[in-house]
Amino acid sequence: MRIAILTDETGWHTRQLQTALRRRGVVGRCVDLADCRIDTAAAWHGLAIPGYGRELPDAAIVRGIAGGTFEQVTKRLGVLHALRELGVPVYNDARAIERSVDKSMTSLLLHAAGIPTPPTWATESAAQAQRIAIREGAAGHALVLKPLFGSQGKGLQLVGEVDGVHHPLPPLDRGYGSMAYLQRFVPPVCDPGFDWRVLVVGGRAVTAMRRVSRHWIHNVAQGARCEPQTLTTPLAALAERAAAALDLDYAGVDIVPVATDTHEIEMQVIEVNGVAAWHGLQRVTDFNIAAALIDDLLDRKHAGAALQQAAGPRSAARSA
Ligand SMILES: Nc1ncnc2c1ncn2[C@@H]1O[C@H](COP(=O)(O)OP(=O)(O)O)[C@@H](O)[C@H]1O
Ligand SMILES: [Mg+2]
Repeated sequence: MRIAILTDETGWHTRQLQTALRRRGVVGRCVDLADCRIDTAAAWHGLAIPGYGRELPDAAIVRGIAGGTFEQVTKRLGVLHALRELGVPVYNDARAIERSVDKSMTSLLLHAAGIPTPPTWATESAAQAQRIAIREGAAGHALVLKPLFGSQGKGLQLVGEVDGVHHPLPPLDRGYGSMAYLQRFVPPVCDPGFDWRVLVVGGRAVTAMRRVSRHWIHNVAQGARCEPQTLTTPLAALAERAAAALDLDYAGVDIVPVATDTHEIEMQVIEVNGVAAWHGLQRVTDFNIAAALIDDLLDRKHAGAALQQAAGPRSAARSA
């Protein structure tokens, strides 16, 4: 069995996956999606995956997709779509990755599934964004402006009044792709504030942590410290619902605590990551995350796809 680890950089995460694969007697090879080609002259399936010759991997795990031009990213996602169409299980699937990378689609799907998440707006009109900020401000709410495809807490800005300081809406053509993705700001419930990161693997929440920092952006990449967090039933259930709403095989779910009018603490999902890193989380849990991912990929996703292929017409296509 040969598994492609699709990644634009090798390091701790890919080593973890390689070790987990070796333990299962499986060969893992790191492949950069940027180096994958469509070549209809080379093989019946039309894909050229470095290291696989005219063959295809038995499954692929997506660990990283580098940013690029619209055209480059379209081709990279196209390769993921093609692999699925050719019967190669892709973990997470391209459709699910697209949903989770686009924060506005994530918000829409969470909302449609009835999952508690802050009110969110995505608009190309700066004037409309301004009107939303004014209306929300009048109701006592600030907003968070986020890059639509952002990650690691980069590029987030407050809009409106927080702690007596007014934050104007910045120009949307600088860093926001002339798009306003606005989410109602959830003020911290304590000092220092925190949020939760819950990892869901194969539909089940498996481990969690708190990310704690004085700054309102609690990403590890922005300097938040990781603390252990018991996986309570409500936290696990909320994260599992969020992962299911986006149809993700595995997901890193960001959840914030919200203080209610009656001083109780509720939870809201603010983001769902389909290409989640787990270095910080692994530092505060005994649970072997890479092993759980690989076990789920092999035992559920790959085994399920193999059964389907044995029964369906694609088996003929792959062996042609
Ligand atoms: N609406 C919000 N209210 C309060 N804090 C937020 C809100 N949105 C984001 N944050 C903080 O910023 C962090 C990064 O936001 P997130 O939407 O997860 O984007 P990224 O993809 O950059 O991680 C969150 O983990 C949280 O700490
Ligand atoms: Mg996040």
